[in-house]
Amino acid sequence: MNTQDELGWTIDRFILERQKRFPEASGEFTTILQAIALAGRVIASKVQKAGLADVLGATGAINVQGESVQKLDVLANRILIRCLETTGHVCAMASEESESVIPIASSRGKYVVLFDPLDGSSNIDVNISIGTIFSIYRRKSESGPGTEVDCLRRGTEQLAAGYIIYGSSTMLVYTTGEGVHGFTLDPMVGEFFLSHENIRIPPHAPTYSVNEANAPKWSSNLRRWVEALKSKETPASKPYSLRYVGTLVADFHRTLLRGGIFAYPGDQSAPKGKLRLLYEAAPLAFVAEAAGGAASDGMQRILDIEASNLHERTPLFIGSKEDVAFAERFLRQGEAHS
Ligand code: AHG
Ligand code: MN
Ligand code: MN
Repeated sequence: MNTQDELGWTIDRFILERQKRFPEASGEFTTILQAIALAGRVIASKVQKAGLADVLGATGAINVQGESVQKLDVLANRILIRCLETTGHVCAMASEESESVIPIASSRGKYVVLFDPLDGSSNIDVNISIGTIFSIYRRKSESGPGTEVDCLRRGTEQLAAGYIIYGSSTMLVYTTGEGVHGFTLDPMVGEFFLSHENIRIPPHAPTYSVNEANAPKWSSNLRRWVEALKSKETPASKPYSLRYVGTLVADFHRTLLRGGIFAYPGDQSAPKGKLRLLYEAAPLAFVAEAAGGAASDGMQRILDIEASNLHERTPLFIGSKEDVAFAERFLRQGEAHS
């Protein structure tokens, strides 16, 4: 795209321009992406003045994940649901913040949207980047209201996936599998404009991102992998640096642009780890692979895992292809009985 175009490429213009080459990207799909972008703009406006708009702090409730619900979790969830149900093209939604499938009034829609409305909730009150993660599938059922059958999918079936990061700037990053594209919000215009066309993740980079406080609960293979990253025996042939924000979207966005690896492994207290397959791992795995990277649970490709329940968790190793393969080499060894 000629990004010098004085008007700039909005998401709508970008998709319409590419629609000529990808006829399957129907107008309905564009409407859904526009609805997500609208939700992102509204959430960004709340986040930008969080301290003033009484959206900080907890609601006092505990969600289906067993986590303390933040006010912005609930607000972001409600905004996404309202923006998506009014498109008329969504037959079912599922959210990390909602126990079961979200019923849709007009259920003629051909699409399903799964999302983590607010990722990094623990960072809201301390002004650290947070995000929204989304995943779009074509419905499986023939007609009528969408059901769990439409939501329990394999990541390879995704039509599109992406995230919004509310950071020093607000960016929407998405892919339909044909390249990964980033749009930056111009708050004066209230539009996202193309800023990062066709993002490619470097084959490796000397950065790893994992919460090492959990190391005492890790397997011996995991501990040996992280020790190896501190030696010269790495894909980058030098010791790695540690970067950990504690917001998956922020740690992933850095990894996507700079390379390296993010990991949230399973451990003795949580063998499947903390992150959710449908709302976090699968959409970001779709983005990582479309950018030339990789995503695994340590043993298998994230995108090959078929969800068996709405809120199932999975260990996640995601980022540069060589760095994910390096981790898998340690994780697939027989467990030394430590
Ligand atoms: P969410 O706020 O949607 O529950 O996600 C939080 C997740 C993820 O954003 C981050 O990578 C991870 O929690 C951090 O967990 P730890 O604090 O255990 O490291
Ligand atoms: Mn999350
Ligand atoms: Mn969340």
